[in-house]
Amino acid sequence: MATLDFCASIEDYRQLAREKLPKILFEYIDGGAYAEETLRRNVEAFGHVTLTQRIMVDVSKVDSRVTLFGESLAYPVICAPVGFAGMYARRGEAQAARAAKAAGIPFCLSTVGICSVEEVAATGQAPWFQLYMIKDRDWIAKLLQRATDSGCKVLVLTGDLQTPGTRYRDIRSGMMRELDALGKVRRAIEGLRKAQWTYDVYLKGRPHSFGNIAGVLPPNASFAASWIWIGTNFDPSVSWDDLAFIRQHWKGPIILKGVMCVEDAKRARDHGIDGIVVSNHGGRQLDGGAASLTVLPEIAHAVGDELSVLMDGGVRSGIDVVKAINAGARACMIGRPWAYALAAGGQAGVARMLTGLQSEIRAAQVLSARLTLG
Ligand code: FNR
Repeated sequence: MATLDFCASIEDYRQLAREKLPKILFEYIDGGAYAEETLRRNVEAFGHVTLTQRIMVDVSKVDSRVTLFGESLAYPVICAPVGFAGMYARRGEAQAARAAKAAGIPFCLSTVGICSVEEVAATGQAPWFQLYMIKDRDWIAKLLQRATDSGCKVLVLTGDLQTPGTRYRDIRSGMMRELDALGKVRRAIEGLRKAQWTYDVYLKGRPHSFGNIAGVLPPNASFAASWIWIGTNFDPSVSWDDLAFIRQHWKGPIILKGVMCVEDAKRARDHGIDGIVVSNHGGRQLDGGAASLTVLPEIAHAVGDELSVLMDGGVRSGIDVVKAINAGARACMIGRPWAYALAAGGQAGVARMLTGLQSEIRAAQVLSARLTLG
């Protein structure tokens, strides 16, 4: 088996994650909706954009720092909200948050994390908090209060999960359904094949409940039952009108995640949203849509002076980060890269991956004479 020392590119972390995780979890992270066209497009789009090599410029002092919502970031990257990460490594969200803190960048905790917002905040850096709207508004108000009490400053409201996109890989792997007897035997055999994960995460990483929403899920719900509950209790009626409710319960900056066209970006601005993430959920929701990078320039051009435009989807290197900044983003979120690195090596894996990303950003800045990213 390869080790962390071998990992240089995000693809290396991906391969190591594949070796370490039970197949059902690897496919959950790696997959996209339906035919995975958007997932592929997100990554490929970066290959169609070029950086311009520049020479004979004094680049002895390049600076990668940016300031977002009053927070200084060592470089313009945020760990995107990724659900279920406490199954990729023991208490995974807390491990990744520690790595992000050490790197000087924010970690955004998913509503459907395994670790609760209190557990992640106890690492010493309150995360950004990502919200999915559940039908029970009283419960949302309580969850937002918990995030506020935990010290979270920035809220990321995800708007593109009106219904869960179908991932064929999750159907085949059994991720989203209760297993029959044969399925349970197969899963047990897989557990034996991935003995390190079984010991470290499955046995020693408990509790495995969804820390933020455990209070509203049916008692003792299995993961499959929890996913079904999530599918039926996420609120498809959410509209621009609901922002007033969120504003009433959240005093800090609000970022709307899932904007993929100029019209929605302008509406977000008109509703007083502080930032947007140009995002198609990493190709996990609507398939057949454009790559985030493709639509980023027109969106940034339309609203970039009035709110903070972030992007995610397909960022697989520091070079990609600089390309996204050149295309109008103020910062990038990365999803799968940190999930793979977490599965590959826990906190040390995420730390190593982030160090690599930072040095790639710096190299791209130096060689294209982009002295600052702010
Ligand atoms: C996600 N994403 C996501 N987004 C969100 O707002 N809340 C969530 O709980 C999740 N969960 C989640 C799980 C997994 C396994 C993945 C891969 C992604 C989407 C995520 O925040 C981000 O938009 C994408 O991951 C960005 O694309 P890349 O970086 O994975 O290509």
